[in-house]
Formats: sequence, C-alpha cells, structure tokens
Amino acid sequence: MIHTRVIVVKNPDEMGVKAADQFEALIQSKPACVIGLATGSTPVPLYKELISREKAGKIDFSRVRSANLDEYKGLAPDHPQSYRKFMQENLFDHISIKPENTIVPDGLAEDVEAMCAAYEEKIEAWGGVDLQLLGIGHDGHIGFNEPEDHFPTMTHEVKLTDMTIDANKRFFESIDDVPKYAISMGIGTIMAAKQIVMVVTGADKKDILHKTFWGPVTPEVPASILQFHPNVTLICDEAAYPL
Ligand code: PGA
Repeated sequence: MIHTRVIVVKNPDEMGVKAADQFEALIQSKPACVIGLATGSTPVPLYKELISREKAGKIDFSRVRSANLDEYKGLAPDHPQSYRKFMQENLFDHISIKPENTIVPDGLAEDVEAMCAAYEEKIEAWGGVDLQLLGIGHDGHIGFNEPEDHFPTMTHEVKLTDMTIDANKRFFESIDDVPKYAISMGIGTIMAAKQIVMVVTGADKKDILHKTFWGPVTPEVPASILQFHPNVTLICDEAAYPL
C-alpha cells in the first residue's frame, strides 16, 4: 500500500469525473499517449465523462492509441457481448480516436499464441502503456487474470473461473452462453504500464478491495501485485472503500 494513492468519492458519477481527470492530464501532456482500457460496468461513467469532455473541447483523442485488457475467446468483434463491441458502443464510436489506433485481443484468432505475441509487440512498438485503467473482479482478477498459483506474465489464453462466469452471466441470455475462455493481457503486461488507475464501486467489492491493497501480495488475489507498482491511483466510492 506504500505507493498507492487512494481517492474516495461519493458515487460512481464522481468516480467517472476523478478518473477522467487522470486521462485528461495525460492526454494534455502527451497527445499521442497509449492508454490501456477496460470493460465492465464500472468504467461506464468514466467513458461518458471522457466523451463529454472531448465534445466540450477539453480532450482530443485524435492522436491517442489504446489497447484493451481482454476479450472473450470465440466471440466475433461484432458479437453483442464482445469487448470490442462494448468499446465501440461505450467510447470509440463517440470520440475522435482513429480505428487503427485501437486494439483489442482477437477472440477469433486461430493461432492464439501468435496473436498474443503480436499484441505484446504492438504495445511495445507504441512505446508501452502510459496509463492503464483497471476494474477488479470479485475474485481479485485484473483483466481476466484469475486466481492461480503464479502470476501470468504476458498476453495469454485463460480459463474463466465459475465466479467470473457467474458474475458475467447478466450480460448473456443464459449462463451457458458465457464463453469459458478468454484472452487477457498478463500481469506482467499490466505491471509494465507507467501509471495505473483502478476504479471500484459498490459494497460488493469491499472485501476484495481490502484483500488487494491491505492483504498479502499473492497470485490467489491477482490484483494484490499492484502493491508493488510505483504509480497506482485507486478511485473507489464510499460503498467500496474498506477502511
Ligand atoms: P465490473 O467488472 O466493472 O462489471 O464489476 C470488473 C471486472 O470483472 O474486472
């Protein structure tokens, strides 16, 4: 917890504003920066805020590059529940970011290993991620790095836990429709980001947030590795704040 800055906000909308401040500051100082993006319900207020700030002329995404954390294996980019589709609908279609400057792992790749290696190479060619946005799963996952006996390093294929499949079934017609595998940036990929902003809202995340930043660093709580990152800002609402 020594390096982590904590900003406690009243509600998800205020979280969106505070998190947007971090992006605005980066994009103003480095217009061609590389941002790492996340899906899930938590970042939605942030994306709304970023869209309205660009409309208001405060941010310009035209030179920004973005790399997403993860994608479901087996879903096409235009599948309603794919993370590519989520990003288009919740952010990319409403800002000036160039399509060729947004990357999301390819859920349909036949050679998954080669696709993962190319994903890492692309991020490296861009000069690495300047600011990585993270949510957190109830089991402590970041991206889709689930609890394991080690910290996976690079972008790779993962088997989703029952807890994650259960949490994500709300987006699908039935639990059987939730993909069982995904492609995710590794813990090493995430830790290589120069700056990390984690957003967490809701009382259901309080316990895992406590384990993450106030418990031991262990691959059983993948997000706990963030205690070793030198530049993490945790933005959480009062309901999720564990202290
Ligand atoms: P959520 O997902 O924001 O929808 O809770 C977070 C995550 O699973 O990483």
